[in-house]
Amino acid sequence: MAKVLVIGSGGREHAIAWKFSQSRHVEEVFVAPGNPGMSDVATLVNIPQNNFEALKSFVKENHIDLTFVGPEIPLCDGIVDSFEADGLNIFGPSKAAAMLEGSKVFSKEMMKKYGIPTASYESFSDYKMAKEYLAKQEMPIVLKADGLAAGKGVIIASTMLEAQTALEDMMCNSLFDQAGSSVVIEEYLEGEEFSQLAFVNEELVVPMEIAQDHKRAYDNDEGLNTGGMGAYTPVNHLPKQAITDAIEQIMKPMAKAMVLEGTPFKGVLYGGCMWTKKGVKTIEFNVRFGDPETEVLLVSLEDDLYEVIEKVTRKEAVELHWSKDPVLGVVLANKGYPGSYTKGAVIENLSDVDATVFHMGTGKLDGKTTATGGRVLFVAKQAPTLKEAQTEVYAEIKKIKCDNLFYRTDIGAKGMK
Ligand code: AMP
Ligand code: GLY
Repeated sequence: MAKVLVIGSGGREHAIAWKFSQSRHVEEVFVAPGNPGMSDVATLVNIPQNNFEALKSFVKENHIDLTFVGPEIPLCDGIVDSFEADGLNIFGPSKAAAMLEGSKVFSKEMMKKYGIPTASYESFSDYKMAKEYLAKQEMPIVLKADGLAAGKGVIIASTMLEAQTALEDMMCNSLFDQAGSSVVIEEYLEGEEFSQLAFVNEELVVPMEIAQDHKRAYDNDEGLNTGGMGAYTPVNHLPKQAITDAIEQIMKPMAKAMVLEGTPFKGVLYGGCMWTKKGVKTIEFNVRFGDPETEVLLVSLEDDLYEVIEKVTRKEAVELHWSKDPVLGVVLANKGYPGSYTKGAVIENLSDVDATVFHMGTGKLDGKTTATGGRVLFVAKQAPTLKEAQTEVYAEIKKIKCDNLFYRTDIGAKGMK
């Protein structure tokens, strides 16, 4: 029987730990650093995700068989290279391969070089040149900070003034810290977004079921971009062609491109896709499981996650099985998110909730659960129809008492049109 260490502390990691805990090959799951809400399925290890030396010592001392990395930051900082240099088994991309998410400029250059469909763009590290280019563009337009910005580094401007202000904020006023010292200015695409994730090892691509996230903070896709406010799977109203094209034109070509570049990808590759009038386009690549897509995908996945990872690691083809019943889940966030928010409100009545609850950002104070993160809880239900799943989730959420939380009330609505 195997021991698994999951790295990270959000709802995604709770879902990953929960899924590993059900594996017939896994005897114990650890999470570093985790959050107190995950202790139902894993043992918490008090080591931060960026302390690679301490994490490696823990893995060696406790004879951990597999380390699975949830978030992008340790991947972009080279955790996989560091573990592999010590001969430790870890599932995730190397630092070089994680650039696909770590640098939007790199990612766009790769897509251009290998003919992977995406919005047309230019990238800039010089403010004056960026400003001149912007002045000649049509609105709306999309500005993206090059580096990591927790899903918030993208601004869609509908007027020139808005675009110019955003550019100045990113490049001159460090709105996203160093992440915005280079920017991508790209064509605005219209269409329906979906998330195509896949387990990848070099040229082996094992596509998952598709899911749909809801990136804007408020109902009807209003408000700022967030890490994601809710998700559901599958997305049956999209044509089959959208999925086939996402796999054949985006996921497989990028896996192959990374091999050709000498930086093969191993891990979960996330294609943020858009189905447009001109076919499928890539919005972005991420180099890890999506959050909150994972929280619905892993509820739907019928296979043993440990077995899947073992097979992909050995480069064996795997056929994944997904529940026929849709899964839908809603994020409860602290009021103010994705901007600043008050931490620590007490959450009551959680034990009354009859749903799968993943803790995204909770703490414990005097035995009570508190809301510590921007995103705090993810409440999911599986039902014969998406509508039923949605109705049930919202009924369960109403039982939760906490005056500082808000949530969108329209998660899944697009899937029921
Ligand atoms: P990203 O971080 O690149 O996924 O961007 C965050 C969100 O901004 C995406 O999920 C889209 O909703 C939106 N977005 C990004 N790029 C574009 C684009 N070129 N056209 C329209 N919307 C976009
Ligand atoms: N849900 C979007 C992301 O994980 O980046």
